[in-house]
Amino acid sequence: MVLSVDLKIRGPDMTYKPIKIAPSILAADFARLGEEVKQAQDAGADWIHIDVMDGQFVPNITMGPLVVEAVKRVANIPLDVHLMTVQPERLIGRFAACGADSITVHVEACAHLHRVLGEVKSAGCRAGVALNPHTPAASLGEILDMVDIINVMTVNPGFGGQEFITATTAKISSLRAMVDEDGSKIDIEVDGGINRETISLAAAAGANVMIAGTCVFGHAGGIGAGIKELRRAIASLDS
Ligand code: DX5
Ligand code: ZN
Repeated sequence: MVLSVDLKIRGPDMTYKPIKIAPSILAADFARLGEEVKQAQDAGADWIHIDVMDGQFVPNITMGPLVVEAVKRVANIPLDVHLMTVQPERLIGRFAACGADSITVHVEACAHLHRVLGEVKSAGCRAGVALNPHTPAASLGEILDMVDIINVMTVNPGFGGQEFITATTAKISSLRAMVDEDGSKIDIEVDGGINRETISLAAAAGANVMIAGTCVFGHAGGIGAGIKELRRAIASLDS
Protein backbone atom coordinates (compact mmCIF):
# COMPACT_ATOMS: atom_id res chain seq x y z
CA MET A 1 0.00 0.00 0.00
CA VAL A 2 1.38 3.42 -0.91
CA LEU A 3 0.90 6.24 1.57
CA SER A 4 -0.50 9.08 -0.48
CA VAL A 5 0.31 11.99 1.82
CA ASP A 6 1.89 14.79 -0.21
CA LEU A 7 5.25 15.29 1.45
CA LYS A 8 7.02 18.55 0.86
CA ILE A 9 9.43 21.01 2.35
CA ARG A 10 8.79 24.74 2.39
CA GLY A 11 11.22 26.83 0.39
CA PRO A 12 12.21 30.39 1.24
CA ASP A 13 9.63 31.62 -1.28
CA MET A 14 7.03 29.74 0.80
CA THR A 15 6.28 27.31 -2.02
CA TYR A 16 6.58 23.59 -1.29
CA LYS A 17 9.05 21.23 -2.89
CA PRO A 18 8.09 17.55 -3.01
CA ILE A 19 10.36 15.21 -1.07
CA LYS A 20 11.63 12.14 -2.89
CA ILE A 21 12.67 8.81 -1.39
CA ALA A 22 15.55 7.04 -3.14
CA PRO A 23 16.19 3.56 -1.73
CA SER A 24 19.85 2.52 -2.00
CA ILE A 25 20.22 -1.06 -3.22
CA LEU A 26 23.51 -1.35 -1.36
CA ALA A 27 21.39 -2.75 1.48
CA ALA A 28 19.26 -5.03 -0.73
CA ASP A 29 19.51 -8.83 -0.83
CA PHE A 30 21.59 -9.25 -3.98
CA ALA A 31 20.31 -12.78 -4.45
CA ARG A 32 16.82 -11.29 -4.91
CA LEU A 33 17.75 -7.92 -6.36
CA GLY A 34 15.12 -7.63 -9.11
CA GLU A 35 12.32 -8.63 -6.76
CA GLU A 36 13.44 -6.15 -4.08
CA VAL A 37 13.73 -3.29 -6.57
CA LYS A 38 10.19 -4.03 -7.76
CA GLN A 39 8.94 -4.06 -4.17
CA ALA A 40 10.55 -0.67 -3.50
CA GLN A 41 9.04 0.74 -6.66
CA ASP A 42 5.59 -0.65 -5.88
CA ALA A 43 5.85 0.85 -2.39
CA GLY A 44 6.32 4.32 -3.86
CA ALA A 45 10.09 4.79 -4.20
CA ASP A 46 10.80 7.81 -6.42
CA TRP A 47 14.32 6.88 -7.58
CA ILE A 48 16.59 3.86 -7.13
CA HIS A 49 20.06 4.79 -5.83
CA ILE A 50 22.99 2.64 -7.01
CA ASP A 51 26.32 2.87 -5.17
CA VAL A 52 29.38 2.13 -7.30
CA MET A 53 32.57 1.64 -5.25
CA ASP A 54 35.97 0.87 -6.73
CA GLY A 55 38.14 -0.15 -3.78
CA GLN A 56 40.33 2.93 -4.36
CA PHE A 57 38.33 6.09 -3.75
CA VAL A 58 36.61 4.14 -0.97
CA PRO A 59 37.78 0.92 0.70
CA ASN A 60 34.84 -1.17 -0.54
CA ILE A 61 33.97 -2.71 -3.94
CA THR A 62 30.35 -3.04 -5.02
CA MET A 63 28.55 -2.85 -8.36
CA GLY A 64 29.27 -2.03 -11.98
CA PRO A 65 27.36 -1.29 -15.18
CA LEU A 66 26.00 -4.85 -15.43
CA VAL A 67 24.02 -4.34 -12.23
CA VAL A 68 22.65 -1.02 -13.50
CA GLU A 69 21.61 -2.76 -16.72
CA ALA A 70 19.86 -5.52 -14.73
CA VAL A 71 18.03 -3.04 -12.46
CA LYS A 72 16.96 -1.06 -15.53
CA ARG A 73 15.12 -4.12 -16.82
CA VAL A 74 12.79 -4.17 -13.80
CA ALA A 75 12.60 -0.48 -12.83
CA ASN A 76 10.58 2.25 -14.49
CA ILE A 77 11.69 5.00 -12.09
CA PRO A 78 14.97 6.93 -12.48
CA LEU A 79 18.25 5.19 -11.65
CA ASP A 80 20.53 7.49 -9.65
CA VAL A 81 24.09 6.21 -10.03
CA HIS A 82 26.62 7.36 -7.41
CA LEU A 83 30.21 6.86 -8.52
CA MET A 84 32.53 6.54 -5.52
CA THR A 85 35.51 5.98 -7.80
CA VAL A 86 38.72 7.60 -8.87
CA GLN A 87 38.70 8.89 -12.46
CA PRO A 88 34.92 8.74 -12.80
CA GLU A 89 35.21 10.27 -16.29
CA ARG A 90 36.39 6.88 -17.55
CA LEU A 91 33.08 5.28 -16.56
CA ILE A 92 30.46 7.81 -17.64
CA GLY A 93 29.80 6.41 -21.12
CA ARG A 94 29.39 2.86 -19.88
CA PHE A 95 26.96 3.72 -17.08
CA ALA A 96 24.95 6.01 -19.35
CA ALA A 97 24.66 3.22 -21.92
CA CYS A 98 23.46 0.79 -19.24
CA GLY A 99 20.54 2.98 -18.23
CA ALA A 100 21.69 5.50 -15.62
CA ASP A 101 19.37 8.52 -15.52
CA SER A 102 21.70 10.55 -13.32
CA ILE A 103 25.39 10.11 -12.66
CA THR A 104 27.00 11.62 -9.57
CA VAL A 105 30.75 12.09 -9.24
CA HIS A 106 32.70 13.16 -6.18
CA VAL A 107 34.19 16.65 -6.07
CA GLU A 108 37.19 15.09 -4.33
CA ALA A 109 37.79 12.69 -7.26
CA CYS A 110 37.72 15.31 -10.03
CA ALA A 111 40.57 17.68 -10.84
CA HIS A 112 38.49 18.94 -13.77
CA LEU A 113 34.96 18.90 -12.40
CA HIS A 114 33.54 21.31 -14.99
CA ARG A 115 34.66 19.06 -17.82
CA VAL A 116 33.39 15.89 -16.13
CA LEU A 117 29.93 17.34 -15.47
CA GLY A 118 29.79 18.42 -19.11
CA GLU A 119 30.58 14.84 -20.14
CA VAL A 120 27.77 13.49 -17.95
CA LYS A 121 25.30 15.88 -19.58
CA SER A 122 26.60 15.07 -23.07
CA ALA A 123 25.95 11.41 -22.29
CA GLY A 124 22.28 12.34 -21.73
CA CYS A 125 22.22 12.05 -17.93
CA ARG A 126 21.51 14.50 -15.13
CA ALA A 127 24.79 15.61 -13.58
CA GLY A 128 25.37 15.12 -9.87
CA VAL A 129 28.19 16.10 -7.54
CA ALA A 130 28.79 14.52 -4.16
CA LEU A 131 30.54 16.17 -1.22
CA ASN A 132 32.32 14.16 1.45
CA PRO A 133 31.54 15.26 5.01
CA HIS A 134 34.64 17.49 5.21
CA THR A 135 34.13 19.21 1.83
CA PRO A 136 32.54 22.65 2.16
CA ALA A 137 29.41 23.87 0.40
CA ALA A 138 31.49 26.68 -1.08
CA SER A 139 33.38 24.16 -3.24
CA LEU A 140 30.35 24.27 -5.58
CA GLY A 141 30.00 28.04 -5.65
CA GLU A 142 31.55 28.49 -9.09
CA ILE A 143 29.92 25.54 -10.77
CA LEU A 144 26.26 25.49 -9.75
CA ASP A 145 25.09 26.20 -13.30
CA MET A 146 26.49 22.81 -14.38
CA VAL A 147 24.86 20.85 -11.56
CA ASP A 148 21.49 19.06 -11.51
CA ILE A 149 21.94 17.15 -8.24
CA ILE A 150 24.02 17.75 -5.12
CA ASN A 151 24.67 14.67 -2.97
CA VAL A 152 25.59 15.65 0.58
CA MET A 153 27.34 12.67 2.14
CA THR A 154 26.02 12.41 5.66
CA VAL A 155 28.43 9.53 6.42
CA ASN A 156 31.94 8.83 5.17
CA PRO A 157 31.34 7.00 1.89
CA GLY A 158 32.15 3.32 1.56
CA PHE A 159 29.65 1.40 3.63
CA GLY A 160 25.96 1.20 4.41
CA GLY A 161 24.59 1.11 7.93
CA GLN A 162 26.67 3.95 9.38
CA GLU A 163 25.52 6.67 11.72
CA PHE A 164 24.30 10.03 10.33
CA ILE A 165 26.85 12.80 10.96
CA THR A 166 24.70 15.53 12.48
CA ALA A 167 27.23 18.30 11.76
CA THR A 168 26.44 17.96 8.04
CA THR A 169 23.04 19.62 8.51
CA ALA A 170 24.67 23.07 8.54
CA LYS A 171 26.13 22.32 5.12
CA ILE A 172 22.74 21.17 3.81
CA SER A 173 21.25 24.48 4.93
CA SER A 174 24.06 26.46 3.26
CA LEU A 175 23.56 24.55 0.02
CA ARG A 176 19.78 25.04 0.15
CA ALA A 177 20.35 28.79 0.56
CA MET A 178 22.84 28.84 -2.35
CA VAL A 179 20.50 26.87 -4.62
CA ASP A 180 17.43 28.95 -3.81
CA GLU A 181 19.32 32.21 -4.17
CA ASP A 182 20.48 31.01 -7.56
CA GLY A 183 16.85 30.24 -8.42
CA SER A 184 17.87 26.85 -9.76
CA LYS A 185 16.04 23.56 -9.59
CA ILE A 186 18.97 21.55 -8.26
CA ASP A 187 17.97 18.54 -6.17
CA ILE A 188 19.75 18.26 -2.83
CA GLU A 189 20.22 14.64 -1.76
CA VAL A 190 21.33 13.32 1.59
CA ASP A 191 23.18 10.01 1.61
CA GLY A 192 23.94 7.85 4.62
CA GLY A 193 22.41 7.10 7.99
CA ILE A 194 18.91 8.20 7.03
CA ASN A 195 16.20 6.75 9.27
CA ARG A 196 12.91 7.92 10.75
CA GLU A 197 14.73 10.31 13.10
CA THR A 198 17.50 11.72 10.92
CA ILE A 199 15.23 12.20 7.91
CA SER A 200 13.52 15.04 9.77
CA LEU A 201 16.85 16.78 10.39
CA ALA A 202 17.73 16.48 6.71
CA ALA A 203 14.34 17.73 5.55
CA ALA A 204 14.35 20.63 7.98
CA ALA A 205 17.81 21.63 6.71
CA GLY A 206 16.52 21.69 3.12
CA ALA A 207 17.30 18.33 1.50
CA ASN A 208 14.62 17.13 -0.91
CA VAL A 209 15.90 13.68 -1.93
CA MET A 210 16.37 11.15 0.86
CA ILE A 211 18.65 8.23 0.01
CA ALA A 212 18.05 5.34 2.37
CA GLY A 213 19.52 1.84 2.34
CA THR A 214 19.42 -0.01 5.63
CA CYS A 215 16.18 1.48 6.91
CA VAL A 216 14.34 0.48 3.70
CA PHE A 217 15.85 -2.86 2.59
CA GLY A 218 16.73 -3.92 6.14
CA HIS A 219 13.42 -2.94 7.73
CA ALA A 220 12.01 -5.68 9.94
CA GLY A 221 8.53 -5.11 8.51
CA GLY A 222 9.67 -5.26 4.90
CA ILE A 223 10.61 -2.77 2.20
CA GLY A 224 7.16 -1.18 1.96
CA ALA A 225 7.06 -0.62 5.72
CA GLY A 226 10.48 1.02 5.57
CA ILE A 227 9.42 3.51 2.92
CA LYS A 228 6.14 4.20 4.69
CA GLU A 229 7.95 4.91 7.96
CA LEU A 230 10.16 7.50 6.26
CA ARG A 231 7.19 9.18 4.59
CA ARG A 232 5.33 9.34 7.91
CA ALA A 233 8.34 10.91 9.62
CA ILE A 234 8.47 13.76 7.10
CA ALA A 235 4.71 14.15 6.96
CA SER A 236 4.71 14.92 10.67
CA LEU A 237 6.96 17.93 9.96
CA ASP A 238 4.19 19.65 8.06
CA SER A 239 1.66 19.27 10.84
C1 DX5 B 1 27.47 5.09 1.38
C2 DX5 B 1 26.47 5.08 0.25
C3 DX5 B 1 25.03 5.17 0.67
C4 DX5 B 1 24.55 4.01 1.48
C5 DX5 B 1 23.50 4.47 2.43
O1 DX5 B 1 28.76 5.17 0.85
O2 DX5 B 1 26.71 6.15 -0.64
O3 DX5 B 1 24.19 5.35 -0.45
O4 DX5 B 1 24.00 3.00 0.70
O5 DX5 B 1 23.19 3.40 3.24
P1 DX5 B 1 22.50 3.56 4.66
O6 DX5 B 1 21.15 4.14 4.43
O7 DX5 B 1 22.47 2.16 5.18
O8 DX5 B 1 23.38 4.49 5.47
ZN1 ZN C 1 25.23 6.68 -2.34
